Order: sequence, then C-alpha cells, then structure tokens
Amino acid sequence: MKNLRKVLLLVALIMMFSLTACGTTSKTPTTPNVAAVKKIGIVQIVEHPSLNTIRESIIKELEAKGLKDGQNIKIDYQNAQGDQNNLKSIAQKFVANKYDLIIAIATPSAQAVVGETKNIPIVFSAATDPVGSGLVGSMEKPGANVTGTSDAVSAAKIMELAKRITPNIKTIGALYNSGETNSLSVINNLKAYAKQNNMTVVDSTVTNTSEVQQAVTSLVGRVDAIFSPIDNTIASAMPVVAQAAIKAKIPVYVGADSMVKDGGLATFGINYQVLGKETADMAVEILNGKKVGDIPVKTMSDMNIYVNQATAKAIGITLPDDVLKQAAQVFGN
Ligand code: TRP
Repeated sequence: MKNLRKVLLLVALIMMFSLTACGTTSKTPTTPNVAAVKKIGIVQIVEHPSLNTIRESIIKELEAKGLKDGQNIKIDYQNAQGDQNNLKSIAQKFVANKYDLIIAIATPSAQAVVGETKNIPIVFSAATDPVGSGLVGSMEKPGANVTGTSDAVSAAKIMELAKRITPNIKTIGALYNSGETNSLSVINNLKAYAKQNNMTVVDSTVTNTSEVQQAVTSLVGRVDAIFSPIDNTIASAMPVVAQAAIKAKIPVYVGADSMVKDGGLATFGINYQVLGKETADMAVEILNGKKVGDIPVKTMSDMNIYVNQATAKAIGITLPDDVLKQAAQVFGN
C-alpha cells in the first residue's frame, strides 16, 4: 500500500514537471512575437477636404507607430458619400466582419457605428459635440466601447474675430444642416452669444448639398454676415457657398480652416492634422490593450486664426493688420 502511494506520488510529480517544462518551452519565443494582423475599419461620412486631412493624418501616424496597412494591420476604408443608408450598411459590414477596431471620422459616421456594436472598440474622430450627439455619456469617462477626439469650437470666439474684421454685424445668417447634431450645439452657442450682444440670428437650414445654393441666396439682403458651423454638408459645398456670398458681398464666418481655404472669410479653429494624429494614438493604445472606456475624449486646446485674403479682396474688406499678424494661415494670398 505504502509503496503504491509512493509510486503514484512519483508519477504525479513527474507529470507535473513535464507539464511545467512543456509550458515553459512554449512560452519562450524562439522567433519574434508576431501578433496577428489586426483588422481596422475606417468609415467617413463624405470626402471633403477636412475629413480627408484627418484620415491621411491618422494613417500616417499609425505608420509612424509601426502599424502599416498590408503588413501588421489591414485597413478597410469606406466612404459613405454623404448617405445615411450607406453609413448603416458600412457599419453593419464592419461588425459582421468582426473587425478589431473601428475608426469613425465625423459625427454621422460615429453615430452609425455606435448604433451597431457594444463590443468592438470605436474611436471617433472630430466629433464636435460627442455627448450631445449621443456618442459617449461623459467626456472624462466614456465608460463603454467608445472614445475619440473632439473638434469643439467656440461660436463666441469666432464671432469676436468676426467683429474685429466686420464690426457692424447686427443680423447674422446661420447656415447649416439641421440634421447634423455636431452643428446644433455650435448654433445654440451662436444664438446665446447673439442674444447677449444684441444681434439677430436668421436660420437657413439644408438637408443635403443640393439645397445649399438656394439657402445662401435666401439670406442675401437680409443679413450682414453668414455663420456656418463645422457642418459636413456645408463643408462639402463650400465652393458654392463662397461663390454665392462673394457675389452678394457677404462675409462668411465658418467653423474650420478647410472652409476658409475653400472661400470662407475667416475662422478661429483647430488644427485637424494634430487631431488626426491624436485619434491614431488612441487607436494604438487600444490595440495595445488599454480599456476604451477609461480613455477620456480628447478636445483640442490649440486654436488659431485662419483667413482668406482673396475672399476679403473680392468682397471689398480690408483684413486688419493685427488679425493678419495673428493668423496661423492666410489663404488666397
Ligand atoms: N466636426 C464634424 C463632425 O462632428 C466633422 C468635421 C471635421 C468637419 N472637420 C470638419 C465638418 C470641417 C466640416 C468642416 O461631424
């Protein structure tokens, strides 16, 4: 009996040792630890200059951090061409394909993917009002599977710049797509600012790019200036806006640098290259194992003046020297 127990104990010990030994062998990598190729879906509501800048900056930064498309990551980029139905089917396809991470550029794209998955990590890029748009419950602690970057701007700051350039603004036309929640928060700020400063706001809203020309024309003769927030629909048709406004000699103040480049008069806005880089850095952290819900939404604190000299000349406005001196970029020079 005693001997049998001894033998069994010995057998058990030998088995334990050999198992441990096996485990050790398999854990010690003899070749470099090559992780599986991660699949990343990138969805963009539409291709307008600012969103393209963001996407290019994201891909560049992923590469800088050692993640190259076709090598250790596989990027599936999809453009929804401004169509909500396309957005939904792209989001559904990303989820069905069980991608490792989804990057959603602009608010409408983010809303579409957030509606389709509670598991796959989502990093949104350039959402103006992430809480108001229902993307996250809180900026500091998003909680679930969603975080990202925000391009929140201040309508008041843009209007202060507007008054330095064209001091006599009494009535301002608000040009935006009422279906874009990213625009609504900025327009609400504009209205609060106008109230405090005895200005009147005249709304001119659109639902798609084909209505933009008419929406600008309807403001002619009724307003001293036009304000357009960081609106994807207006940004996509910005050359049309600029042409119509220049013809009527109305200054257009906008929410983003690309809209100034495309003929708007001025903005006080963020740098979208930096925002793209920050978005990619969050994606890398998540791919390296950080919990999405623990990463606060990042807002850009560095804001700058952007003006368009060609537009100013075309509508007969002299840009003040101090504004020109402070400008991060003067387009149309
Ligand atoms: N902020 C926009 C959103 O929340 C996206 C955006 C980024 C944008 N850059 C822009 C819109 C420039 C218009 C112009 O959807």
